[in-house]
Amino acid sequence: MIKKASIAIKADFLHFLSESEMVYIPQGMLWIENGKVKMIGLEAEVTPHLPKSLEIKDYTGKIIFPGFIDGHVHAVQTQAIASYGKQLLDWLETYTFPLEQKFENEDFARHSIRFFLNQLLKNGTTTAAIFPSRHPEATAILFEEALALNMRILAGKTNMDRNAPAALCDDTKLTYSDNQQLIEKYHNIGRLNYAITPRFAITSSEEQLEALGELKKTYPKMTVQTHVSESKQEVESVKKLFPKAKNYLDVYDGYGYLGKGSLMAHGIYFEEEAWKRLSETQTSIVHCPSSNLFLGSGLFNMQKCRDYNIPLALGSDVGGGSSFSMFKTAAEAYKVASLQNIEFTARNAFYLLTLGAAKALNQDAFIGNFEIGKEADFVVIEAEATELMQERLSVSNTIDELLFVLIMLGDERNIQSVYLQGEEVKK
Ligand code: GUN
Ligand code: ZN
Repeated sequence: MIKKASIAIKADFLHFLSESEMVYIPQGMLWIENGKVKMIGLEAEVTPHLPKSLEIKDYTGKIIFPGFIDGHVHAVQTQAIASYGKQLLDWLETYTFPLEQKFENEDFARHSIRFFLNQLLKNGTTTAAIFPSRHPEATAILFEEALALNMRILAGKTNMDRNAPAALCDDTKLTYSDNQQLIEKYHNIGRLNYAITPRFAITSSEEQLEALGELKKTYPKMTVQTHVSESKQEVESVKKLFPKAKNYLDVYDGYGYLGKGSLMAHGIYFEEEAWKRLSETQTSIVHCPSSNLFLGSGLFNMQKCRDYNIPLALGSDVGGGSSFSMFKTAAEAYKVASLQNIEFTARNAFYLLTLGAAKALNQDAFIGNFEIGKEADFVVIEAEATELMQERLSVSNTIDELLFVLIMLGDERNIQSVYLQGEEVKK
């Protein structure tokens, strides 16, 4: 039975009402009823409204943010994190594909997926768009474990049927039915959302991409998540495999994958035409800076999303990315932006980790900030968790400075506690 708490939380709060409206409430109070936000404001304003018997949890001096959102991560690559010396296509072949085959074993899959979800929560990530392996059974395990934790996730069996080891290739004829069975069992159960998940154009035949397009027609509002334009070698390979497509994005466009809430990870090598098409269709991009640097893929141009008004989220992309921490992911985004002379403030970062990502994942009706009625997922932050942060923050004067230090120096040690719908899951 999923627990949805009624409780009041006393702390400093920070959230966004829009990209340009950050709200900071020092000495605030958050009132949660049945797992949803009932009221938020200054302690003195909210306290008189609280029912007499309501438990009040005191986090005086701590900052509370809405739960962080990881827009792109692999549930089946934890043991491949920090694997030396390869770029994308070789990295997949050498480390990732052998590991993903192990998820055929359900005991291993359960152990590894539990470990993975635990890593998300320890890092303050309460919602994620997740790629499991190609196995329907391992995908079901991911859904069951996330449901038991009451996490809001988007996930779907990873589909692939070529250019990979035989054990990782689907029987193409089962693509539609395997996905549909999982959709019927798990989509919209608790806080689970199914996402149609072609791995990328290289590992799916046209027949499989077509079947997934049919699925999207059957479930038009469903998220499609995939990888696109991540490395030069990959882009060249897609050109050869799909000679008739105008560009890489056009391959996915041809199958009807673009649209609000669809998640295109990476997008480093887009031509102007692709940016325009993303904008027209309001398709989201997930920027995965840690992965892009680690795999030597390239530098994503975040400014394009601003210029073209394209929804954007950040993704850890573990195991290509080398940390589950969304602080560290945002720190890498800062450096990638800095290398291109693009402004990326701490406010920009925290917006992207919360409300911005909620919008990109089309989940902003439920999560992303502390608006009344939203699900009360949040992280309690101890900013001075390390000696270095204490030393640095001893000379910090503004909230923006504190936020920037958190991003540049923060990690899981700063996550004091995590709540899902008002229930504490990490102490
Ligand atoms: N492209 C296709 N598969 C993958 C993957 O597992 N990780 C990354 N980073 N890129 C991909
Ligand atoms: Zn990925």
